[in-house]
Amino acid sequence: MTKCIAFHSYKGGTGKTTIASNFAVLLAKKGYRVFLMDLDVYAPSLQAYFEKEPRKWINDFFWSNAHIDDVLVDLTHIIDENNSSSPINGKLYVSFCNPKKEEIYKLDGGGKQDNSKI
Ligand SMILES: Nc1ncnc2c1ncn2[C@@H]1O[C@H](COP(=O)(O)OP(=O)(O)OP(=O)(O)O)[C@@H](O)[C@H]1O
Ligand SMILES: [Mg+2]
Repeated sequence: MTKCIAFHSYKGGTGKTTIASNFAVLLAKKGYRVFLMDLDVYAPSLQAYFEKEPRKWINDFFWSNAHIDDVLVDLTHIIDENNSSSPINGKLYVSFCNPKKEEIYKLDGGGKQDNSKI
């Protein structure tokens, strides 16, 4: 059964992104198939943790410029830090939100796009 876990706090800088990132890696190491999504759309920071420039952002999915599969970056290889011989059974997919200010402006209707997916 698929479970959805949200890390949320009204207060900023309290460790939401740090905990979500570490929790996702731990679950993948335990054998779960994990899809970590940055939905902190007004101040995304997941990219800073994984140092990855995705081909497509979750914003592209919002604006119907990408299929959901296109915004999933398979980062399973990073959890096998020791290149261990025991296989990692889980999967870690991450989707990143675009931190550029034009993209954040668009989320507020600044671009007049259809925002039904948001
Ligand atoms: N358990 C911890 N102990 C010490 N520092 C921590 C801990 N968890 C996170 N930090 C540090 O606190 C800062 C904020 O963490 P993080 O970005 O995870 O918070 P956040 O709640 O996602 O912030 P934001 O509201 O800006 O999205 C970072 O510099 C992070 O390295
Ligand atoms: Mg955060």
